[in-house]
Amino acid sequence: MYHDFNYEATLATSLRAQWQLDDVLRTDQELDFGRNFMPESLARTAAIEGLNPFEQRVLNQISAHQYLAIFGVVEEFILPFLVDHARPALRGDDYRIRALLNFASEEAKHIHLFKRFHDAFVRGFPVECQVIGPSEDIGAEVLRHDPLAVGLVILMIEWMTQEHYLGSIRDDSDLDPLFKSLLKHHWMEEAQHAKLDTLIVDALGEGRSEAEIDKAIDEFLEIGGFLDNGLKVQAGFNLDALEKAIGRKLENREEVEAQQHQAARWTYIGSGMVHERFKASLEALSPNAAKRLAEVAPVFA
Ligand SMILES: [Fe+2]
Ligand SMILES: [Fe+2]
Repeated sequence: MYHDFNYEATLATSLRAQWQLDDVLRTDQELDFGRNFMPESLARTAAIEGLNPFEQRVLNQISAHQYLAIFGVVEEFILPFLVDHARPALRGDDYRIRALLNFASEEAKHIHLFKRFHDAFVRGFPVECQVIGPSEDIGAEVLRHDPLAVGLVILMIEWMTQEHYLGSIRDDSDLDPLFKSLLKHHWMEEAQHAKLDTLIVDALGEGRSEAEIDKAIDEFLEIGGFLDNGLKVQAGFNLDALEKAIGRKLENREEVEAQQHQAARWTYIGSGMVHERFKASLEALSPNAAKRLAEVAPVFA
């Protein structure tokens, strides 16, 4: 076995690591708009030519708004996926069912937390930031695929949050402590989700022929392409918001938009795709599947 994860131990760790919304952000707390919100490793706003430091910070904050919106969207399809996966075996192993339902409940809490941060963002940011959606439609498009493909997308997302938190730790710029705390608390619970999703993917891959796995990888790539397209549209929305907030048009807008799309590709796809644990799950599923995804990963770097 390429890992030693099991439902009983993961449930026990999850229950110990659990937190409440107010531990992260109370409804009366305000974000500090005098600081960056996102680690530079994800936002990649410091290197943009033609933006002064103030404008770079505004774009960093818009990138954080995107983070709240994108995680809102993905958590909303993770939740029904988990409930569907849990339902057929409700009378099975007690640890398994409790671990899966706890996982689902934590994702519902994360959706709630991201909304709370979003409300705080809207209260403090001068202009409206448009987001892709509606999230129901995005979720429906993702969930119409083979559960193995969806499970792999979710596994990639769970592992990427680990990298996001580490990025905020390494970041030596002056990050807003509340946002840092969001990444940390999400990381704490997602670390257990990633283990459970590893078990889910193992189960969904069991007994599949090489051709069936290959087909699931096609569908994984289809979902990846669909999400990537959403990120491209979102990059445009982000720059609309930036131009509104700073009161001028960017001369090098096309260039900045492409650079910010690439930053989002790394944040929401690439950083999960290259995660060692994600690659190990693929390798166990099929060395050919691992090879196929290793070939496309550089696009999302
Ligand atoms: Fe989550
Ligand atoms: Fe999660």
